[in-house]
Amino acid sequence: MVMLSTQKSNAPVCRLRQYVLLLACFLWTSFCLVLWALNGGTHIKQFQPPRPKSVLRNNSSSIISASDMGISDEEWERLQKALDWPIPDQEITHWMQSTSPEHSSFSILGVNESYKVGDKLYVTITARDHKKNLKRYGGDFFKAKLFNSEQKASVFGEVVDHRNGTYSVAFLLPWEGQAQVFVRLEHSSEVVQIIKKYTESSFPRTHYNGHFGSGPSKTRISEVVECNLKWGADGSWKKGDCCCEYKDVKTGTVWQCEKPKTLSCDKLVHHSSGRLESPLNMFEQQLFAKKLTNVAISGDKKIINVLSSTAAIGTVEKCRSGLKTLVPAGFYAKDVWKSFVCNTRQFSPEQMGNCLKNKIVYIMGDSTTRQWFEYFERKVPGIKRMYLHTDSATGPLMAVELKNNIIIHWRPHGVPLRFGRVTPITDLHYINSEIDEIAGGPHAVIVFTYCAHLAFHPLTFYVFEVAKIRQSIVALLSRAPDTTVIIKSGNTAGLKDIFLSDWHTLQLNTVMWEMFSDIDGVIFFDVWQMTSCHYLVENIHPRPVIIANEIDMLLSYVCPS
Ligand SMILES: *[C@@H]1O[C@H](CO)[C@@H](O)[C@H](O)[C@H]1NC(C)=O
Ligand SMILES: *[C@@H]1O[C@H](CO)[C@@H](O)[C@H](O)[C@H]1NC(C)=O
Ligand SMILES: *[C@@H]1O[C@H](CO)[C@@H](O)[C@H](O)[C@H]1NC(C)=O
Ligand SMILES: *[C@@H]1O[C@H](CO)[C@@H](O)[C@H](O)[C@H]1NC(C)=O
Repeated sequence: MVMLSTQKSNAPVCRLRQYVLLLACFLWTSFCLVLWALNGGTHIKQFQPPRPKSVLRNNSSSIISASDMGISDEEWERLQKALDWPIPDQEITHWMQSTSPEHSSFSILGVNESYKVGDKLYVTITARDHKKNLKRYGGDFFKAKLFNSEQKASVFGEVVDHRNGTYSVAFLLPWEGQAQVFVRLEHSSEVVQIIKKYTESSFPRTHYNGHFGSGPSKTRISEVVECNLKWGADGSWKKGDCCCEYKDVKTGTVWQCEKPKTLSCDKLVHHSSGRLESPLNMFEQQLFAKKLTNVAISGDKKIINVLSSTAAIGTVEKCRSGLKTLVPAGFYAKDVWKSFVCNTRQFSPEQMGNCLKNKIVYIMGDSTTRQWFEYFERKVPGIKRMYLHTDSATGPLMAVELKNNIIIHWRPHGVPLRFGRVTPITDLHYINSEIDEIAGGPHAVIVFTYCAHLAFHPLTFYVFEVAKIRQSIVALLSRAPDTTVIIKSGNTAGLKDIFLSDWHTLQLNTVMWEMFSDIDGVIFFDVWQMTSCHYLVENIHPRPVIIANEIDMLLSYVCPS
């Protein structure tokens, strides 16, 4: 139960349309936010020319067609190319054949006496197995950065997979002073292959609870049963006529709960996350051992001296929609993120208030955007949370500032959602449905993220949901083109288990990025690099210093200078 539930939110909501209609008017000031998944900073192009290979997958997901996902065959092909990731070209029978963090290493190419700001530093990574043999195929998931602890400076490096056991990174040297290289093996390609297999299978890695209830409190009958997503022709986690089905009218998403013994299907009231279930067999567990996951590899510890340069570094580009995530997208210096994507500034509390004056901010998604809500609540002068009789972890939440007429809403997205607390199902709204209820306009800022909780379910389902969100955003921007729409990517978390790997996050970010790349007027705010290269230990909930930088960047989009 780990992950997302640490931030304690409660139960997700399901989207029972009937309930939704009933409750919709209550709490109606809620909001929406969306964000977009991430694209790993580097978006998508993390690994080069794809050569699709067949994966060891169960056939259940291959039954899902592009039209089931609500997209064209061409788009699905394009997505699959963007998502392609090399895997072992041979059957692995012993864990010693997998990539070893201990024996893999990196080296700096042709070290020069000195470097200038704006120069590049070239690094090669060589992957070896546990018997020290060179690997012959690619697919290892490395993370690379350049850092200077004293200056609290760091920059992300994109790892290019040559598909022959070697990888390269071309780091930009953005600050004056010293710099050192750091490389981690997040997952061996053998582990990526396992993650990939289960991502595409219908194995239910996570379970949920449905809390049914009926009657007045004194004589109330309650029952708790298991619930889950129904997806695909045989995608049901339960066989036969097992379940109550709750189909969202707009998205077509079907949520299922086992039939309660005494109560009828319309008595579902609350949602909560349930147990996690590992699909790994013994052999897979050996490959996936924690000590082999997210481990620093050894290499050239040489300190690079970077001299100042007259060459301009940085950008004067105004923050707006349509900008691509660059590599690097920016860098930290003294813990402040300097973006190369657009001209980001730092906002004092007063400037935050001025920027948000006369705005309604609809923030949606998961606990990572709730962190944004809470940050605003702490910083914007005079802002107060209204008590909506909801749990502070699961929301919905709302804060207002009367002098400048600021309203900020936060709410979680619909099921599937792994919030630990028990939440009224009626409070869990799908992002697309929320957006459909917002008139939009120059005063409206819609921010959402949709990533972490979806890592437990098939990627085809994610594509389906994102396609629905896209439809709603296209409609919104058609009726109210002045609306600000910002999609936040998923951040890195550095977790060491099968359930929510950064590899999943990278894939979901890629989908979000690809599917919105042609939609004018949408801002992609990619936080992957900001969380991947920071010196703090990665956390599914980025620490305050990172959130502060994210908010400065967010506000730079809302109020560009
Ligand atoms: C995949 O299929 C195999 C053989 O059909 C079956 O034994 C296995 O349990 C399935 N795995 C999952 C995760 O569904
Ligand atoms: C999966 O589908 C392929 C092609 O349709 C078929 O050849 C193969 O036998 C199937 N595998 C399993 C485990 O059902
Ligand atoms: C080293 O510096 C020289 C001269 O500035 C430059 O031409 C060369 O590309 C540099 N080599 C590397 C590996 O950066
Ligand atoms: C791997 O491929 C890269 C790029 O094509 C090449 O430069 C390198 O020499 C190759 N390494 C090995 C060990 O084959």
